[in-house]
Amino acid sequence: MATAQKESWQSGLGFVLAASGSAVGLGNLWGFAYRASQGGGGTFVLLYVLIVMTICLPVLVAEMVLGRSTGRSPLLAPVQAAGRAWQPMGWLFVVVSCGILAFYGVLMGWTGQTLLHALQVGLPSSMGEAELFFAGISGGQSAIAGQAVSMLLTAVVVAAGVQAGIERLSRMALPMLFLLLVVLAVWASSLPGAAEGYRTFLLRWDSQELFNITTIRNAFTQAFFSVGTGIGAILAYSAYLNRKAPIPSEAVAIVGLDTAVGLLAGLLTFPVVISFGLGDAVSGSTIGTIFLSLPTGLGSIGLTGRIVAVTFFSLAYLAAITSSVSLLEVPVAALMDRCNWSRRNAAWVSAAVIFVVGLPAATDLNVLGTMDDLFGGVLLIAGGLLIAVLMGWFASRSFLEDLKNSGITPPARAGIILFFLRWVSPLVIAAGLLISVVDLIGKWTYVPR
Ligand code: PHE
Repeated sequence: MATAQKESWQSGLGFVLAASGSAVGLGNLWGFAYRASQGGGGTFVLLYVLIVMTICLPVLVAEMVLGRSTGRSPLLAPVQAAGRAWQPMGWLFVVVSCGILAFYGVLMGWTGQTLLHALQVGLPSSMGEAELFFAGISGGQSAIAGQAVSMLLTAVVVAAGVQAGIERLSRMALPMLFLLLVVLAVWASSLPGAAEGYRTFLLRWDSQELFNITTIRNAFTQAFFSVGTGIGAILAYSAYLNRKAPIPSEAVAIVGLDTAVGLLAGLLTFPVVISFGLGDAVSGSTIGTIFLSLPTGLGSIGLTGRIVAVTFFSLAYLAAITSSVSLLEVPVAALMDRCNWSRRNAAWVSAAVIFVVGLPAATDLNVLGTMDDLFGGVLLIAGGLLIAVLMGWFASRSFLEDLKNSGITPPARAGIILFFLRWVSPLVIAAGLLISVVDLIGKWTYVPR
């Protein structure tokens, strides 16, 4: 086995921005809006926030401690923490992060193509035209080209290293992204349908939705996917953390920023959708909101709309690439740690393999949806469960010790987090996982009559 990692973050802020960059991604800008609109409205948002605060946050702290205390890659950290029996967990991290990146690269490709189209040609003038354009970018050579460029850019950043690549990108991208999104949300609040947009999608309350299995699954999946805990991406980043970093407060900052961006994206999307009468198109399709309704709505208000669209898709691309680099870091760190590969070779080889694995998703929307359901909706959450069990039960002593050694976290706070990891997170995640699997099997075996 290789020795502990030598790279490190330049500063605590750099790490928080990079980890927030991992969390903030297409999941916030694309997933949050459509899942909120699929049903639930305010009930979905409440469930989402509850799950993030009580379940994802402790798991995120555990994942960060696992990375820092072992100083290893996601592949070997579980073994280092609790012995050989935990090796499969390391493999799960590598397989799931590669699986997610395989279809994430395709979504990034669509985002990039939509941006280019808005810049060079303009926006669609009707839903029909938008659908035609979308069919063009989401299939065939265009989708593959977009995916290839996205994987290439991701590999360039990861190959450049922790400080010169990932940290530098995040320092630039995250503040800009946040600022642009606030500006767009303020602009959207001036639209005629703004109030109704907020009411319909974000504030509508329906207690029945609390028991709706699809709403629960959506909130669960969205929470884990958006925070991005459960597959070792944040673990990989945390291996480069110094001993003194205040992990619990950093985790709160990451989760807070991530949730804020999801809500801000809703504050932008829903006024647009209602103002331009596109409500039905949104909930009907998973891709509807971002790739169809938003461009069509904005297309009807001329130059302003085009500027808004270009801004939005640029910030979406920035959000996506700060996430994709964290996903690629998982196999890259594993190859460096386990096989002593150079960072550069590991980055290029992993990116090439993941590109090939993603090709079926680039050419077939159903494959993409299934990969999203399987990797994002089930295996990612299973990884979160394993992290809670590992740190809560099998490595709880090193968990407490690591937090104590940082000299910042009060022991009482570390104890509360450990309590959640032991008694709350595993039970709730196991229940959520069961619901997800049952709901998914229902979806996969559904035969329309
Ligand atoms: N959180 C990212 C998003 O919202 C995706 C991601 C998932 C990144 C898992 C890292 C790990 O788009």
